Amino acid sequence: MTNLAEAQVPGVDLFPVRKPMPRAQFDALSQEILVLKKQLNAVILAHNYQVPEIQDIADYVGDSLGLSQQAAGTKADVIVFSGVHFMAETAKILNPNKIVILPDKDAGCSLEESCPADKLAAFQKTNPNFYTITYINCSAEVKALSNIICTSGNAVKIVEAAPKDKDLLFVPDENLGAWVMEQTGRKMTLWKGNCYAHIEFQRDNLLRLRQAFPEAKVVVHPESLHEVRELADAVCSTEKMITYCKSSPARQFVVVTESGIIHRMQKECPGKQFICAPVADALRTPTDPCHCSECKFMKLNTLEKVRDCMENLAPRIALSPEIIHRARLPIERMLEISAR
Ligand code: 13P
Ligand code: SF4
Repeated sequence: MTNLAEAQVPGVDLFPVRKPMPRAQFDALSQEILVLKKQLNAVILAHNYQVPEIQDIADYVGDSLGLSQQAAGTKADVIVFSGVHFMAETAKILNPNKIVILPDKDAGCSLEESCPADKLAAFQKTNPNFYTITYINCSAEVKALSNIICTSGNAVKIVEAAPKDKDLLFVPDENLGAWVMEQTGRKMTLWKGNCYAHIEFQRDNLLRLRQAFPEAKVVVHPESLHEVRELADAVCSTEKMITYCKSSPARQFVVVTESGIIHRMQKECPGKQFICAPVADALRTPTDPCHCSECKFMKLNTLEKVRDCMENLAPRIALSPEIIHRARLPIERMLEISAR
């Protein structure tokens, strides 16, 4: 096995530079958060891309599917959602009577931006036989226009279960949609949206990593481009990536998704080595020279902001009862099919 400490791959920084929070600061903040959590009867849900210190204080860390399932089943009065805005909205849709807060209201998503509800509604009118399957990375208004929601963890299952006599419209991620078409053989019309972070992974860089680490398994998120997915040993959601790395006998893995996931992988797979797939050189800046892929939206959240949102009970998700009512059904359909 190639020694990671000695390995050099031209154009690839194998050692990310993100510094952990100082221990004393972490201890003080996590203590404050613990007290607030008890006072509020709150649950803290965090996505796999969150910074390590948020993952370490969360009650549950997972992918979009796991987080929706947790939100659907929680008995807490307050849901603290450390992820991006559409995830917190999903939790609110499933819990209209609970308070749902998030650390930073500007934590958006490029996929959500790519699909405004008015444009989707206009496109749906072009074919009355459309059955709209919508990736969870979208606004509540877009969910309300959908027949069913999916995540990267269940998209294949959801598409396989879709009515055979309908024309399938898949929104908003054209890369996930293309991958699902390959897996299921079902033809779909794809909305032209993408994740700005995942489309930056480059085939050339990945080929260089494969050469340097011939024994490493390559795990790729389906939001990545086709030419990158082609090089994968496994294409899956972030949660399934962790399961794959845990159960695989391999000792090294090249991870092609947002670098926040490495924290859980290192914690849950002791003795295994994880190599962050690099993004294009052009994305490096003098203040952030790291080659790893980071979602600028996910990384708006900090442990301080988690504490602050619990103290202020804001930013808070507010949605109209009408949108909640219409958006809930397609989410519940997804949860029901996922549980089968
Ligand atoms: P999953 O964690 O559901 O695989 O999704 C990745 C993602 O990009 C979330 O925004
Ligand atoms: Fe959206 Fe991509 Fe960020 Fe996920 S990683 S929240 S899909 S921009």
